[in-house]
Amino acid sequence: MRKKVTVVGAGNVGATVAHRLADKQLADLVVIDILEGVPQGKALDLLESGPIEGYDVRIKGTNDYADTANSDVVVMTAGFPRKPGMSRDDLLKKNYDVVKGTIEKVAKVSPEAILIIVTNPLDAMAQTALKVSCFSKNRVIGMAGVLDTARYRTFIAEALNVSVQNVQGFVLGGHGDTMVPVPRYTTVAGIPVGELMPKEKLDAIIDRTRKGGAEIVNYLKTGSAFYAPSAAVVEMIEAIFNDRKKILPCTAYLEGE
Ligand code: NAI
Ligand code: 2OP
Repeated sequence: MRKKVTVVGAGNVGATVAHRLADKQLADLVVIDILEGVPQGKALDLLESGPIEGYDVRIKGTNDYADTANSDVVVMTAGFPRKPGMSRDDLLKKNYDVVKGTIEKVAKVSPEAILIIVTNPLDAMAQTALKVSCFSKNRVIGMAGVLDTARYRTFIAEALNVSVQNVQGFVLGGHGDTMVPVPRYTTVAGIPVGELMPKEKLDAIIDRTRKGGAEIVNYLKTGSAFYAPSAAVVEMIEAIFNDRKKILPCTAYLEGE
């Protein structure tokens, strides 16, 4: 039996998550949005890509939470993205209402699901989802560390002219100015990064990583990043479904761990 994933929000991140999941044939998909027609249209368009791409997954667009019932994973992308000049925290009030309302509905019909939260401000929205769903804390995870780490690895690989696959590292902490790239645990083919580039260069990469989201917003002007964020979500889902024991930096509620 194929797994079932619901993507809440058929916007840039949500639709791209659905696209990547279908390409990888990881699950049957339900895409739900408050806008009428948009999830239906995008889901049908994705479904019609199946014969060309060679996938058989079922993909349904809807405005009805009953269609999301018994999902194994729910990805929460509903809400507003930021515009140039806004911080993620500026989205707090509007997105709190969206996340609270939608999580109440999905949690009721998918009581066993794992929730992956994407909506910003990420750390606060992940905690909101935890409280509203009343799910156990190991089933409510926020996506940000995988994305921030991908940006950090990209910039290091570019600076050293090596494959991104040779660069291992972690960005921990909150998804914002307080995020913490950890040079001590950053290696390139096993060599500590500090031995491969001067401190000033690494400091500049750390600063660029911290501002990585804003860099994209400033280019796009009308929204925020979605290709790398959707790739990060799909890496998390693939790790969960295949029980890969991957160590991925995620937002989680801790009680002394
Ligand atoms: P978008 O504007 O393209 O899509 C958002 C979608 O949510 C829209 O289709 C909208 O109709 C829908 N929506 C709004 N209220 C809703 C409701 N009550 N019920 C169902 N759907 C609703 O935005 P985008 O670019 O997809 O970003 C989504 C969120 O993800 C934003 O808050 C953004 O800041 C956040 N984000 C977080 C990242 C992270 O690293 N955690 C990375 C990228 C984006
Ligand atoms: C990002 O870092 C918008 O939080 C999102 O791109």
